[in-house]
Amino acid sequence: MSGVYPLARRALFRLPPERAHAVALMGGRVACTIPGLMPRLARAAMQGDERLAVDAFGLRFDGPLGLAAGLDKDADAPSLWWAMGLSFLELGTVTPRPQPGNPRPRVHRLKADHAIVNAMGFPSMGADAVARRLHTLRARSAWPATPIALNLGKNRDTPLDGAADDYAAAAHVLARYADLFVINVSSPNTPGLRGLQDETHLASLLTAVREAAPGVPALVKLAPDLEDETLHALVQHAEGAGAAGIVAVNTTIDRSSLSRDPGLQGGLSGRPLARRALQALRVVRKATHLPVVSVGGIHDEAEALRRIEAGADFLQLYTGLIYEGPALPRRILARIRSELDAKGASNLQALRKQKT
Ligand SMILES: Cc1cc2nc3c(=O)[nH]c(=O)nc-3n(C[C@H](O)[C@H](O)[C@H](O)COP(=O)(O)O)c2cc1C
Repeated sequence: MSGVYPLARRALFRLPPERAHAVALMGGRVACTIPGLMPRLARAAMQGDERLAVDAFGLRFDGPLGLAAGLDKDADAPSLWWAMGLSFLELGTVTPRPQPGNPRPRVHRLKADHAIVNAMGFPSMGADAVARRLHTLRARSAWPATPIALNLGKNRDTPLDGAADDYAAAAHVLARYADLFVINVSSPNTPGLRGLQDETHLASLLTAVREAAPGVPALVKLAPDLEDETLHALVQHAEGAGAAGIVAVNTTIDRSSLSRDPGLQGGLSGRPLARRALQALRVVRKATHLPVVSVGGIHDEAEALRRIEAGADFLQLYTGLIYEGPALPRRILARIRSELDAKGASNLQALRKQKT
């Protein structure tokens, strides 16, 4: 970690996590209003290197790095993430109706492990308000020059057998603003949500979202706490039911990788998730040829390269950005570029070690 972030982090880490998040986002929103700044930063991060580009879902992404869901739940500052060198922006989770989420405190830093435990429970402005915000951003040309994925969830009070209607309602309202949807069935903080990770529910959710938003590809985001065989079967089933890609993985309820378990409720993210996320990626990569987004515990260049070598098409960051700062994507991109140079490779596929 270099530059000014260690100082900024020290100040931010004095605040409770959600307060620090709000302060940083507020700063980001202001930066987004400076004319021409975000495109200039994005260009500097990508360096016009065509070798980094990824073509997937009929879309072009300038690079393989992305923003994981949850950091910008209400589409506060899409251009900010793009300016950092992130090309696959996943905003949300958005629920169809507004809801406050769980009572606070619901986010905890585990500094010794470079980890976070969160039990947010989908606080969301709701699909109508997020659609209005996206509409305004587009009207002001404050729109990043990269595809936008919107992550969808159900409201807490919607019973599981009504879940498909929730996902469809949100997809319908947001369809005009989304290049992609991600169907989130893997957050541990909405009771019963992970129960949607079975063949019958997944098929009905995919059908509902695709009917509500024809032509918008829908990916499925899965949990790390599934047995490998179950994960493999589920991915194949999702592909058969029309999924356009897989996002692996969400936070974990397993605590075995922590140096000390403080006994907090919620989903664990960050460095301790890296091992499981890599293994899950390997399982998913074997199960499908669909594009795979690998997320979980990517905090440095070496881990990012490992995921590309294991067959990830995209990598997403969340907790790594909190601990390492906004320069992390640029550092990772620079490392990928030097790896491409060293191998004389013309694209990211050439870095794969696991053949598919
Ligand atoms: C505070 C917090 C909130 C999150 N909210 C969401 C969310 O709303 N939807 C979702 O699909 N994932 C959410 N996630 C999970 C991340 O998108 C990601 O899958 C997970 O944190 C693993 O990546 P990481 O180790 O890089 O953080 C959240 C994670 C954190 C730490």
